[in-house]
Amino acid sequence: MKKVCLTGIKPTGNPHLGNYLGAIRPAIRMAQSGEFAGYYFIADYHSLTAVHNGKELSQYIYEVAATWMAFGLDPKQVVLYQQSHIPEVMELHWILSCFTAKGHMNRAHAYKAMVQENENSGRDPDLGVNIGLYTYPVLMSADILLLQSDVVPVGPDQLQHLEIAREIAQSFNFVYGDLLKLPKALEQNVPLIPGLDGRKMSKSYQNTIPLFANEKDLRKLLNKIKTDSLPPEAPKNPDESLIFTLYKFFATPYEIENLKAWYLRGIGWGDAKAQLFEVINRELQLPRQRYQELISNRSEIDRILNEGAERVRSKAQDLLKKIKKTIGVI
Ligand code: TRP
Repeated sequence: MKKVCLTGIKPTGNPHLGNYLGAIRPAIRMAQSGEFAGYYFIADYHSLTAVHNGKELSQYIYEVAATWMAFGLDPKQVVLYQQSHIPEVMELHWILSCFTAKGHMNRAHAYKAMVQENENSGRDPDLGVNIGLYTYPVLMSADILLLQSDVVPVGPDQLQHLEIAREIAQSFNFVYGDLLKLPKALEQNVPLIPGLDGRKMSKSYQNTIPLFANEKDLRKLLNKIKTDSLPPEAPKNPDESLIFTLYKFFATPYEIENLKAWYLRGIGWGDAKAQLFEVINRELQLPRQRYQELISNRSEIDRILNEGAERVRSKAQDLLKKIKKTIGVI
C-alpha cells in the first residue's frame, strides 16, 4: 500500500507565479512521480475565515480546481476533492477541538500575527479576529487526521500547523489508544521567489505576476522590472539581477549558463527581459490554454469534484465511525 500524501490548497483567488513555483509545481511533480497515494483538496472552509463574499469564494474554488488540472494534476491518478463536500471533516473538527489546548491556538502564527498587527496600531487586539481564524489549525488537523495521512508536504509557514496536528492526535490517542495516525511533515525548501519589485512575491505587496496573464500582459509586466542604467555593452552581475533570479526558475542548466555568459559579456536589459519572457511563456503557454478550456466548463469541474468526494467519504466515514464509537456517542 502506498503512503497517503495530503495537500490542501486554500482558494483565495488570482494565483501568481510565486504560488506556482512554491506550491503548485512541486506538488504536481510529486503527484506525477506516483510515489504516494495523493489526496489534493480545495480548502474552501479555510478560505471562509477571510473571504466573505459568496460569488467570489465560489469563483475561487473553480479557479483552483482548473489551475491544478491545467498544470497536469490528473483526477484519475490522485483524488481531487473539495473540503466542504466532506461533512465528516466538520464532525471531526469538533471532536478534535475538545482535545486541543487553547494555549496552542494562542500561539498559532496566523492568529498571533493579526493580534500583533492590531496591538502595533493601538487597536483592540481581537479586532477582526473570528473564531474560525483562531481555530484554523484544528480544522487543518481534521483534514489531515481524517484521511490518516502519512505525509503532508509543507512550506515553512505551515510547519507549525502540522506540529499542532500531531499534538492534537497525541492528546486524543493518549486517552483512547492509537486511533489517529501521526502525520509527518514533508518539509519543502521553498526558495524565496521575488516579485516585480524584488521583494517576496506576495499579493499584499502588489508585485505579483499573475499565473495566467496573456502573453501581451506578461511581456508588459516583465518590462516593468526596474533595472539600472548601465549601457547594454557593460558587463552585468547575474547574481544581483532580479531578471536572472527569475530566469533560473524556468530555464535549463544549459540556458542558465548561456545567459550568465551573456550578462558577463554585456547584455541589454531589453534582451534580458525578452529571454525571461521566453522561458516563462514556454512553461505557461499550454496550461494557460488548458485553464481557459477548463474554467469555461464548470459542470465538468463539478463532476470531477463530486467523484473525488465520493472516493474520500467512504474512507472518512470508516474512521469517523470508529472514533465516535470510541468516544461513546454511538
Ligand atoms: N493552511 C493551508 C494553507 O494555507 C491549507 C490547508 C488546509 C492544508 N488544510 C490543510 C494544507 C491540510 C495541508 C494539509 O495553504
